[in-house]
Formats: sequence, structure tokens, C-alpha cells
Amino acid sequence: MADIIDGRAIAAQLDEVTKAQVDALLADGHPAPGLDVILVGNDPASEVYVRHKIRACERVGIVSRKHQLPADTSQDDLLALIATLNAKPEVHGILCQVPLPEQIDPALVLGAIAPNKDVDGFHPVNVGRLSTGTGGIVPCTPLGVMKLIASVVDDLTGKDVVVIGKSNIVGKPVANLLLDAEATVTVTHIYTHGLADICRQADIIVAAAGAPRLVRGHWVKDGAVLIDVGITRIEGEDGKTKLVGDIAFDEVQHAAAVTPVPGGVGPMTIACLLSNTVKAARVAYG
Ligand code: GUN
Repeated sequence: MADIIDGRAIAAQLDEVTKAQVDALLADGHPAPGLDVILVGNDPASEVYVRHKIRACERVGIVSRKHQLPADTSQDDLLALIATLNAKPEVHGILCQVPLPEQIDPALVLGAIAPNKDVDGFHPVNVGRLSTGTGGIVPCTPLGVMKLIASVVDDLTGKDVVVIGKSNIVGKPVANLLLDAEATVTVTHIYTHGLADICRQADIIVAAAGAPRLVRGHWVKDGAVLIDVGITRIEGEDGKTKLVGDIAFDEVQHAAAVTPVPGGVGPMTIACLLSNTVKAARVAYG
């Protein structure tokens, strides 16, 4: 039987470290780190994500402020809010939840957040730093994926890792992190020819295509490590909605280890957001 990688437990351990860092800042006389979260419109999934992020801040002592703007907010008004937050010393992290309504250009907005407050790691400066291995703020989900892999693989040197998905949020940054760890990385996507055969060579598969049950049991070699970033809400046979990943979880008992959905990558994303926020505050405090 494959081991189940418990993302909730690993995230809780990271939260302990983050909370201790917050306590140390307070003990040094600094104000608590602050995270400002911007939500434009009423996308139900985004509302849930933002609620989880804000609740998590409370757990570790980060002050969070939510800015909920109407769906018809203009791009200029959003940019003006970001400029205000960029200038406030008590704001250490700014997160603008995507997707954004269609009148707003996400690249423009994400690029307007000060790079040292960009706790998502989406700003081109942070993307550039990551791709050149020169520091910066690392995006939360890729960072969480690396920590989950590290919980079961000591050394990535020369390991064959297949990443499925080429998004700016997960696929591309996780590929860079894996390369920095000396893995041999193959980046694929849903249009890749022979994807099953490519996956069968992999020591580790990071599935981030957003395609439910894309990775079947016969795609996975014995003893592989499987990280499932996919999370899609579907209606089950009983009429209830459920969350499914990109990996057919019930078919991969021959793997060495696999992350569940939910309870795998999701909690790590939030724990890494908190960790990035405290890191940004520590840099700001010098
Ligand atoms: N939407 C889905 N995931 C994310 C994330 O990690 N950050 C932001 N800002 N929006 C998201």
C-alpha cells in the first residue's frame, strides 16, 4: 500500500515554526506581521479560499485585513488600492485573489504589487528571481509541493520528475524549484503526446493539470512518489459535490507515497502563504 502523505500534519508543523517566528518578532517589540487580502467580486470558490487564508492568519498571530470589492470595480480603482497598501508600513503581504473579473488585466494588477510584499510570488521580479535561482518570494503552492516531496524523498539529485501542467502558478515555478534541487525535470501538459509513457518513467509525478483522474494507475511505476495538485469539484453518484484530484487515487496502491485530495497540497499552500508573510515582515523589520 502506498503511504499517504499527510499535508494537514506537515502544514501544522510549518505553522508551529511560523507562529514561533511571529512570537519572536513580538518579543523584539515589533508589531505583528500584516497580510492584506483583496477579493474582487463574489466567486464562490475564491470566497472559500480567502476565508481559509484569513482564518489561518489568526492561528499564527498574523493580522489580516480583507478588502472585498464589487465585481464591477474598475482596474484603476484596484490599482489605487494596491498603491495605498504598497505604501503602508503595517502591510507586509498583499494578496490579490485570482481569477479577476474580465475588465481587469491580472498581469497588470499582480505586477503592481510591490515585489517585497508579493507573498504569492507572482510578480515578474519574483518570477525572474526564482528562474535565475537568486532568491525572492517563492509561490506558495510550489513551495508546499517541495516540502511534501521532502517529507518522503531525502535527495532529489538526478531523480526523474514529471510535472504535468504549465501554469504560472504551479507548473512553471515548481519545475524551476525541482531543477534547483538537481532533479531531471520533464514539463508536460494535457496536449503532450505519449503522456502515459512519459509518466511511467518518473520517480516523482507532480500532477497540476486541473484534469480530474488524468493520471491512471498504469501510468505510475512501482515505488513512485505522487503529488496531486489538482482539485476539481464534481458531482458524485450520490448527487453530492466532492473534490477530486488529477490522480486516480484508488488505482495507485503500488506507488511509494501519494498525497490525498483534499488534505494534501491544499493545506500546504496556506501554510506557505503564512510563512511567506512572516518572511516579508522579517525582511521589512531588517
Ligand atoms: N487563486 C487560486 N490560487 C491562488 C493563489 O495561490 N493566490 C491567489 N492570489 N489567487 C489564487
